[in-house]
Amino acid sequence: MTITETLAPAQTRGLVEITEVHKSFGALHVLRGVSLTVEPGAVTAILGPSGSGKSTLLRTINHLEKVDSGYVAIDGSLVGYKKRGNSLHELREKDILKQRTEIGMVFQNFNLFGHLTALENVVEAPVVAQGKTKAQARRRGLELLERVGLKDKAHAYPRQLSGGQQQRVAIARALALDPKILLFDEPTSALDPELVNEVLDVIRELATSGTTLIIVTHEMGFARDVADTVVFMDQGQIVESGTPAELFANPHEARTKAFFSKIIEPAFNI
Ligand SMILES: Nc1ncnc2c1ncn2[C@@H]1O[C@H](COP(=O)(O)OP(=O)(O)O)[C@@H](O)[C@H]1O
Ligand SMILES: [Mg+2]
Repeated sequence: MTITETLAPAQTRGLVEITEVHKSFGALHVLRGVSLTVEPGAVTAILGPSGSGKSTLLRTINHLEKVDSGYVAIDGSLVGYKKRGNSLHELREKDILKQRTEIGMVFQNFNLFGHLTALENVVEAPVVAQGKTKAQARRRGLELLERVGLKDKAHAYPRQLSGGQQQRVAIARALALDPKILLFDEPTSALDPELVNEVLDVIRELATSGTTLIIVTHEMGFARDVADTVVFMDQGQIVESGTPAELFANPHEARTKAFFSKIIEPAFNI
């Protein structure tokens, strides 16, 4: 079977197909044949111990990491490559950047531009990468800041905002490109505990919006409430996946059970 025959037709928005992806850093084989399909609009939580390859997997989805073999496709189009004859050729930098605008990413440490206000952070990419006018981008930027509860902080600089507020600006910034897919890499791990919920509430709201969400998180209660599918990764492989009810209540694999027994807080009722 050729690659194009295995890809779905492009009439859906936000379908992610990861197929047999391998990735090494030198001698370290970090992704060991990962396959995962995420349906358009679905919410997927990825759990797993530190070093299991979760961030690397997220980064292959927007081609921040090149895969060594296998492929990632979004809505039937290969990420980072095009197919010519029977071989794959990496896209030009310009086309990679264009493709990346369809995929929003929110990082653990917010990664806001410190010298720009909240609104300027949100406006930057639509103007630079999508050719929107400043006026259009500002109007949309203010709407998005309102959506994450920060309209009154539009002109504040990151250093004047709490971690939770900065992360909500980062989410507004990711939404500004109207992405098909939003990737979150431990979006609440750098936050003080009392600021976690304000960020999770924003992500909860996004979960009902029809955008495909893939979220690496250690927040089990959140994953149980919000995710359609929970995926457990260990040592570069998907050990098992299922609905939160299936996976939390009845994990099949010993590695999954061991992980949950360490991480699930005693008050966590399934
Ligand atoms: N750019 C890199 N160069 C070398 N090793 C890396 C790089 N990125 C990640 N790794 C290694 O790959 C493994 C998986 O990392 P990562 O995907 O960040 O795991 P996780 O997000 O699950 O903690 C780790 O051993 C990490 O040290
Ligand atoms: Mg990580």
